[in-house]
Formats: sequence, structure tokens, C-alpha cells
Amino acid sequence: MNTDFLTDLGRGLLRLVVALILTFTWLARASAADTEYKLVRVETAGQALRVRLPLTDVAGKVRPKERTPDGYGEPLAPTKTVLGEKHFLEWQIGYDTREADAPNVVKAIQFVRKGETKFGAELSKMLVDALRLGVISTNDLLRERDRLAKLAEATLEEREGITTEKTPLDAKGGLPDGFTRWTQKVPQFLRETEHGWIQIQLKPRQRAVGNQAMVYVCIPMKSVLTADGKPRAPGPAKTKETVFYEFSRANAGFLLDIVRAFAIASKQHNEDIGQILGKILESKTPSP
Ligand code: ADE
Repeated sequence: MNTDFLTDLGRGLLRLVVALILTFTWLARASAADTEYKLVRVETAGQALRVRLPLTDVAGKVRPKERTPDGYGEPLAPTKTVLGEKHFLEWQIGYDTREADAPNVVKAIQFVRKGETKFGAELSKMLVDALRLGVISTNDLLRERDRLAKLAEATLEEREGITTEKTPLDAKGGLPDGFTRWTQKVPQFLRETEHGWIQIQLKPRQRAVGNQAMVYVCIPMKSVLTADGKPRAPGPAKTKETVFYEFSRANAGFLLDIVRAFAIASKQHNEDIGQILGKILESKTPSP
């Protein structure tokens, strides 16, 4: 038996295993860094609530866009565009999650929706932190909660619809093979403020019938900050760049506008927000 050959084989195998382990470790780290960068992070900065938003995750929950008159905005390539006055971030803000250990979770806010346990997250954490910092007050939340029932009477998802109309052909002439032309009208709702705007869009439900009302917070690029708290100068995005938006007493109304947008978006959102505000207020109000 050639023992030298077996020793060489053993060494070769060992090297291969080490190389594989190192490659997997590197891949896992790179993937974790990528996931971390894409997260919206709710933090505090002194007396303000600070939200970290990814700038280049074009298919994610925070998308950079160019402003258009219809309010929808045009998607863009952030690293190839000088992001400035004409641009904004469209943030599909969330308020809950199924996972108790997800980022930005407030475990104390727990509620049941359609038999499933939900935990408050993101907007819920923003409200909890904003209350703790004095950006908003218990009275603000009480007022919002008291408004919910009135807003629930005419929620957009239940009241509005997407319509399809037969539309005459333009001067270009007819369509071949007996085709006719139909156009869909999709209503969308915009609440403009001096700080940014909130959009409610109706979208057909995935894997179900009917429409769902989606809420988006739109933040002008001119209002976002860099990590050192200074306004971000116009310029293309760097790879995996993150930016910051702060809520303080000066724009606390914008935070409450988001709450109200969910309250008018659909009955389900209205109910969920009621549960979340209820839990926050419960923890603030001393029991008798
Ligand atoms: N549920 C949680 N966040 C939402 C959002 N931004 N739009 C619609 N439904 C949601």
C-alpha cells in the first residue's frame, strides 16, 4: 500500500473542506450584510425619531422615484441619477409582522387578525418611540383612536373600485382582427403636506378577489439626511447607501397623518390601527 499517496489525498481533501467552509462563511456574511442594508431601521437621535432607509433597493419596500404630476412617480436607477429636488422615496410602510423576532418589533403590541397572532412593528415602533421621546403625546394618540370609528364608515378599499370602460379609438384608426379598446381607471388618493405626501393606491389582491388599499409614505430627497444628521447633498446613490429621515415635534403631524391614512384605507387597517393604539395607550395609562 502507498501510504504517501493516502496522506496526499487526505491533505487535499482537508484543503477542499476548509476552502468550502471559508466560501460558505463569506457568502453567508455577504448575504447577511445585504439583508441588513435593506432593512428599514427605527432608531432615535437625541429628541428625534430617526428612520434609516435604503436608497438603492429598487425592488424593495423603499423605492427611489422621480416625481410626476399624477403622484405615482417614475422608478429610476439610483446610482445613475443625480438624486435631488425632483426625486423622492416611496416607502411602503408596515405596522405589523407575524414574526416575534423580526426587526423593529414591539413584542408588547400583540393582536389577533383572522385567527393569526400579529406583533406591532415599524410604524408601531415609531409611535411607541415617538411617544417616549415626547414627539407625540398620549392626547395625540387618544384623539387618533377616537377618530377611528368615524373614519371606518367610509374606507377607500370598501368604497372605491377599479372600473373598465370601452374607449373609442383615436385618430390612428381601428384595431385589427375585431379587437376593441378598453381602459382601466384606478383611483388613487394623495395627502400632500409640507413635509412629504402620503399615497393610498388601490391594487388588485394577489391570490384573491377584490382590491386592497396600499399605503405609501413619500419623502422628498431634499428632506433626507446622512448618518451624521446633515442634509444629503444632491448626487447619485452609492452602492448600498442608506439615508435617514427624522420625525421631531416640528413634523409630528406627518407621523399622525400616516396613522390616519391607514384608518381610512380599509376596514381591516382601521381595526388593526385601533388595536395598536389601544395597546400603546394601555401600557401608558396606569391601571386603577
Ligand atoms: N399592511 C401593512 N402595511 C401596509 C401598507 N403600507 N399598505 C397596505 N397594507 C399594509
